[in-house]
Amino acid sequence: MNKLTRAKPEAIRSVDEITAGRRLRRMRKADWSRRLVQESHLRVDDLIWPIFLIEGKKRQEEIAAMPGVFRYSVDLAVLQAERAAKLGIPALATFPNIDMSRRDARGSAILDPDNLINQATRAIKEAVPGIGVITDVALDPFTNHGHDGILSEGVIVNDETVAQIAEAAVLQAAAGSDVIAPSDMMDGRIGAIRDALDGNGFQDVAIMSYATKFASAFYGPYREAIGTGGLLKGDKKTYYIDPANTDEALRETEQDLAEGADMVMVKPGLPYLDIVRRLKDSFAVPTFAYQVSGEYAMIKAAAANGWLDGDRAMMESLLAFKRAGCDGILTYFALEAAEILAVR
Ligand code: PBG
Repeated sequence: MNKLTRAKPEAIRSVDEITAGRRLRRMRKADWSRRLVQESHLRVDDLIWPIFLIEGKKRQEEIAAMPGVFRYSVDLAVLQAERAAKLGIPALATFPNIDMSRRDARGSAILDPDNLINQATRAIKEAVPGIGVITDVALDPFTNHGHDGILSEGVIVNDETVAQIAEAAVLQAAAGSDVIAPSDMMDGRIGAIRDALDGNGFQDVAIMSYATKFASAFYGPYREAIGTGGLLKGDKKTYYIDPANTDEALRETEQDLAEGADMVMVKPGLPYLDIVRRLKDSFAVPTFAYQVSGEYAMIKAAAANGWLDGDRAMMESLLAFKRAGCDGILTYFALEAAEILAVR
């Protein structure tokens, strides 16, 4: 600092004059006072655990880009569901990695009542009836091109896809799914799924809409997890939302609620907390975010390199969702976070 810019000490008012006696550090001075004024809280009840499934028995494969995350055969997935239930995690969301021989252009295997996702739902609900099972009805695990819809002459055809996922939703409900969570972003899917469920006696099965799913780079590791990484041609921009758009996210949500969604979700999570806040303020409905595979991978990779404290970054990121207005979070950290919350 040179002489010209240095203020004369007598020219600076006292801090008490500047703040008029307000000192926000007072309540931060001790652990007890910080706890007392904490505004947002993360509880185990806020966590939904997405798990990956593979065919076969007693199989478990770690996903390279998601250290600590595995694909489980149904028998082992049941054991994981038991673990999650013991920790108090309210619900699981299941994602299948089916054999390539069963994938085709239309994702027909989604209409097999005994496909991997339905087998897992039956087994989990039988062994661990108290845990909620949330199933996705998107076609991407079942198509040989990795898209969430039926691909016809280079176009993802909306209405045909909607008819197929509505049918698949009924099969998932029949297998015991508690919540149908369509992640495909086709127009009209929520209303069609609601009609199909109600028409088949599944009035009690809820819908969690992936209302605002953005065309994001953060899904990378997930595509490895369900084996669509090498398959996907092109991108999903003709059906997912442009990351630049927030009014459009609001319109999508309004539409899904009008069609009958019970809960809405924002995906990805951390880069889209502004959307969470805007939805919560606008609609005041149960609002969730999906902390996706790439978000998980970033924290895990940095922690593995010793670049940050993985546990603290995990807990802070989950708390940030609560602060932004989330009622709950789909997160691959669910089990780890629940373990930490259990000993607090
Ligand atoms: C597709 C789907 C995606 C995810 C779940 N279902 C995205 C995609 O592959 O386009 C992403 C989940 C994650 O990244 O953790 N229906």
